[in-house]
Amino acid sequence: MKKEVNSELMDKIVSLCKRRGFIFPGSEIYGGLANSFDYGPLGVELKNNIKNLWWKRFVQQRDDMVGIDAALIMNTRVWQASGHLENFTDPLVECKKCHHRFRKDLVEGNKCPDCGGELTEAKQFNLMLKTFLGPVENDESIVYFRPETAQAMFVDFKNVLDTTRRKLPFGIAQIGKAFRNEITPGNFIFRTREFEQMEIEYFIKEKDWKETFEMWRKEMQSWMTDELGLKEKDIHELDVPDGERAHYSKKTIDFEYDYPFGKKELYGLAYRTDFDLKNHFKEPPYEDVEAGEKLYPHVIEPSFGVDRSVLAVLSEAYKEEEDRVVLKLKPRLAPYKVAVFPLLKNKPELVKKAQEVYHNLKKDFSVAFDDRGNIGKRYYSQDEIGTPFCVTIDFDTLENGDVTVRDRDAMKQERIKIKDLREFINGKLI
Ligand code: GAP
Repeated sequence: MKKEVNSELMDKIVSLCKRRGFIFPGSEIYGGLANSFDYGPLGVELKNNIKNLWWKRFVQQRDDMVGIDAALIMNTRVWQASGHLENFTDPLVECKKCHHRFRKDLVEGNKCPDCGGELTEAKQFNLMLKTFLGPVENDESIVYFRPETAQAMFVDFKNVLDTTRRKLPFGIAQIGKAFRNEITPGNFIFRTREFEQMEIEYFIKEKDWKETFEMWRKEMQSWMTDELGLKEKDIHELDVPDGERAHYSKKTIDFEYDYPFGKKELYGLAYRTDFDLKNHFKEPPYEDVEAGEKLYPHVIEPSFGVDRSVLAVLSEAYKEEEDRVVLKLKPRLAPYKVAVFPLLKNKPELVKKAQEVYHNLKKDFSVAFDDRGNIGKRYYSQDEIGTPFCVTIDFDTLENGDVTVRDRDAMKQERIKIKDLREFINGKLI
């Protein structure tokens, strides 16, 4: 069933992001820079929580993965060999009347979305973002920002192999920025020209590609539902047909998500064959000692957009209830795990105890402190940014050493001993 586009909901999410410090328009005091965004104090916590969870799950907790962190600008020969300089293009059309330019496949119908004018025939536009490296600006000093993190995993393949002595199958992972001179960016952080990816290049023998593809398909599904908390019914798989896949791919599945603005790509899973390693290495870079042969490993590539993860998580978490707005984030993703309040601001003994609890919890968690207004308002404020637990220090605390802990989702309160707080919160960080 096709879900309805909810642009009002999208506006509310964008407004909350700005108001509470998740995501700001980039360079705002200078009038902004088209489709650039900055993550604020809460946004960077949410984004880092997603990246850290991903790294832990897909790199640290597995025996068959290692990570790298490569340079954003690589030798231009990398992009010649990878085919990006020639093939990394999108079809561009221009309005004959207002001269605005659009990505052809994003235009509905055949008229200009801005003025209704007639559009030109499509021509291929290269998405690589150029700059100059060094003090001389000429053709020789042109370099490109990477359009995907993936290529470094291929280029560094031999170095990683020589230093880690891995055997097939194994993967190399990386999290980092990528740049594309998108023709039609838009939908908040959905399509921007500077964004972040979490990518895995998983190296295998050719015969194993189908079952490995299936293994990663399940891994990606589990990541989306179990770790990010997305609903299965909002996730859709699209088997990308021939002619529409990237130039290196023999099979691609796009995982699409029902964003408030419609069903659009969240992640991709591709079978890149031995295309990249063959282009970068004259000799097969891997030796199968047991079989006594050298070979070019084949590659399955699960690719995750960080910003689209943030957007999907926010879309899923945003709820309006009777008298509150609440972000029902998975506790592990929440920017603050807990907020600490003294019941009354003008009682020094309560404030002192609350500060003590706050500083102690800060050793283990990201914690907020709030002493403004009444407790109800403080709950409301924390609900809106997704803080799963609020701890209030009152007069009984000073007598008995226990505090009121209020749960964001159930809105229920219980008394917990201060000495048990750490364990209590840890136990709920799912
Ligand atoms: N290495 C393979 C690759 O880059 P892709 O489908 O072009 O494949 C992978 O990109 C993921 O990167 C996408 O599924 C999406 O999550 C994210 N992504 C791509 N372009 C983006 C953009 N302009 N803005 C934000 N995220 C983007």
